[in-house]
Amino acid sequence: MQIIETVAALRDALHLAHSQNRAFVPTMGNLHAGHLHLVALAKQQAKLVIVSIFVNPLQFGAQEDLANYPRTLAADIAKLQAAGVDIVFTPTVAEMYPSVQTMTVHPSAMANRLCGASRTGHFVGVATVVLKLFNMVQPQIAVFGQKDFQQAAIIKDMVQQFNLPIHIISGNTMREADGLAMSSRNAYLTAAERAEAPRLQKVLAEIATQIKQNAGDYSALQARAASQLKEHGWRVDYVEICAAHSLLPAQIDDRDLVIVAAAKLGNTRLIDNCTLTKT
Ligand code: PAF
Repeated sequence: MQIIETVAALRDALHLAHSQNRAFVPTMGNLHAGHLHLVALAKQQAKLVIVSIFVNPLQFGAQEDLANYPRTLAADIAKLQAAGVDIVFTPTVAEMYPSVQTMTVHPSAMANRLCGASRTGHFVGVATVVLKLFNMVQPQIAVFGQKDFQQAAIIKDMVQQFNLPIHIISGNTMREADGLAMSSRNAYLTAAERAEAPRLQKVLAEIATQIKQNAGDYSALQARAASQLKEHGWRVDYVEICAAHSLLPAQIDDRDLVIVAAAKLGNTRLIDNCTLTKT
């Protein structure tokens, strides 16, 4: 496995690899089984697998956890080596942003809702760094986790609108035994918060069950789920039943739905989602 820090060295390595069959998994490191699942999907799809590890300052707000974001490079590299990755790209901030990034990607309106409403500029930062990484790696396939449902939808939209010749694959959310979605941010939870955290997934699954049983008052379902979370100490950002294709509030005749939520336990903001198709 090659560990590469510069764009020039990455270009050389890709040129020497002679493979137009590349799958790419962008990450911010602190890798867990969820990331390794995305790597396994990439390996099924392509001969050459490239993983990037870059904590992207552009996607963090001023009040967010950029400085404290867990950086575990040595452990991440060992995991990627064991997973059979070919190239790990670990650029510095200066390598990714040699000058101020004055040109940025502004995603469609779907990026201003849900997480985009409370994290101003977040998806501009995500789309911009992903476009830069796509241009550096030039993959045919890129793999994103479904836990970040809105992020994956925005990337798919960007790929389509800019005619990027990249096939985007979404990997299922990996969960702990008690249902909590795997996330680097779970490490911030205290023992008591960790015990409480699976409730987020449970309230979303409950909404899905009720919709399958023909509950049609989506506002009431959302409000009930939010108050259940609040009763247990969560600060709820949103719980919303959306149309999966647009991420707009679901209408009663939309069939492919995603129930999305973001809420804080203590200082830790968790997100999760649950997809369902109405029959
Ligand atoms: O999901 C992430 O880890 C990041 O948002 C990504 C896609 C690597 C861009 O920095």
